[in-house]
Amino acid sequence: MKFSTIILVALVRLAVAMPAYDSLVGLSEREINEFVGRNGVAPIPNPPGPLPAYDNGLKLVNDPAHPFMTQQPNELRGPCPALNTLANHGYLPRSGVARPDQIVTAVMEGLNLGNDFAKFLTYQAFLMNGNPLTNLMSIGMKTNMTGQDPPKPALVGGLSQHGTFEGDTSMSRIDAFFGDGAAFNQTRFNDFLAFASKFGVNGTYDINAASEFRFERLQDSIATNPQLVFTSPRILSAYSEAVFPLVYFVDGRLNNRQLTQDAATSFFFDQRMPADFHRQPAPVSFEVIEPLTGKLFSDHPFVPGVNQGVNNYIEMPNTPAVSDFCGIYEDIALRVVPGQYPKPTGQLRDALMKNLGFLFGAVVFQHNCTQVFPYGK
Ligand code: HEM
Ligand SMILES: *[C@@H]1O[C@H](CO)[C@@H](O)[C@H](O)[C@H]1NC(C)=O
Ligand SMILES: *[C@@H]1O[C@H](CO)[C@@H](O)[C@H](O)[C@H]1NC(C)=O
Ligand SMILES: *[C@@H]1O[C@H](CO)[C@@H](O)[C@H](O)[C@H]1NC(C)=O
Ligand SMILES: *[C@@H]1O[C@H](CO)[C@@H](O)[C@H](O)[C@H]1NC(C)=O
Repeated sequence: MKFSTIILVALVRLAVAMPAYDSLVGLSEREINEFVGRNGVAPIPNPPGPLPAYDNGLKLVNDPAHPFMTQQPNELRGPCPALNTLANHGYLPRSGVARPDQIVTAVMEGLNLGNDFAKFLTYQAFLMNGNPLTNLMSIGMKTNMTGQDPPKPALVGGLSQHGTFEGDTSMSRIDAFFGDGAAFNQTRFNDFLAFASKFGVNGTYDINAASEFRFERLQDSIATNPQLVFTSPRILSAYSEAVFPLVYFVDGRLNNRQLTQDAATSFFFDQRMPADFHRQPAPVSFEVIEPLTGKLFSDHPFVPGVNQGVNNYIEMPNTPAVSDFCGIYEDIALRVVPGQYPKPTGQLRDALMKNLGFLFGAVVFQHNCTQVFPYGK
């Protein structure tokens, strides 16, 4: 065999050995150009605006137009009980693959999230877990239904991708070190209910139950998970998500920030709105959520950090604190996103910059953050 043939054979073997989405150096870039040439880049609609005033109030949302249907085998669900529930009711595509604008609309209509807050959560997740070229994201695991991937190190892993938005110390999921960090875990959720029984008014999951449970979740992971990571941006979602259930999962007619264990079980376990469920009576955004997460933090302050072995929590005081909202926005835009897209070019860069602009649009008004530009202006 001539030397060049040997190399060729070796390359072919290597290519066969690798999964389809892996690639030899340079190939992804070519594939991506071919893909863009064939299909173009998906149009990126602007984020939806707020619900109109005549339709942003109390409303029956478990209605005949949005019937609950159990998930089919080819449909994807993931770590977020709210998005899973919205997909099971058809507020999101039941496939579990959605455009960011569809997610913004779904959480506004189904649960009455304020527009800025809906955009903040959605575009943050999309930049870490979605496909910027096809404008699609899985609310569960990685799937080829989001189309051809951009070059690595982009992950396009869907919401279940550990170490992006999905992270440690969840309330109803186990840490990824121990198994599937996106799947509901009954043992975990039993603790959620136990804390409601012990600390909440009338056995509900209220602000005090949330506060004690959030603290316990961190202490437990410090003591058991040798690879615990509890830094920006995960710290913010962990604290917000502890508060969300006692706001958005409580029927808007009562709206007392006390989630009954039956209603909690309906959302978390059945991924289904309770019968006759009404959403919040007005859009709920940062101004409601942040004082509540602030109380959780002041009850039990912590410093961001990582475990290097169990019970060996290394504090990282120089990373943004959970209260440093604009610092976390900058961390996402300048560190996390470029970690997956170090040097994007062409239409990929355009798409990323557009989505980064949408993320900034969500944080400018209520927080007055200064816009940052990882890829130039
Ligand atoms: C708007 C877009 C949203 C996105 C992209 C999103 C994404 C996610 C992700 C990735 C997680 C997993 C984090 C983890 O525990 O590791 C999560 C958890 C969670 N989400 Fe969402 N979410 C959204 C909206 C909402 C809304 C509106 C609610 C309202 C109740 C909500 C409630 C929760 C809760 C309670 C958890 C924690 C689950 C647990 O700790 O076991 N999410 N979400
Ligand atoms: C995704 O992969 C499955 C299984 O390999 C294949 O049958 C299907 O055609 C693929 N779909 C897309 C959209 O590429
Ligand atoms: C659920 O979590 C418990 C406690 O961490 C663990 O023992 C159990 O194996 C988990 N179940 C699954 C299906 O992973
Ligand atoms: C507890 O529940 C009972 C019965 O529903 C109600 O009358 C009472 O006001 C509740 N207590 C508080 C503190 O909300
Ligand atoms: C917002 O930030 C700018 C620039 O840092 C500052 O000049 C302005 O006073 C701030 N506005 C509010 C409302 O905080």
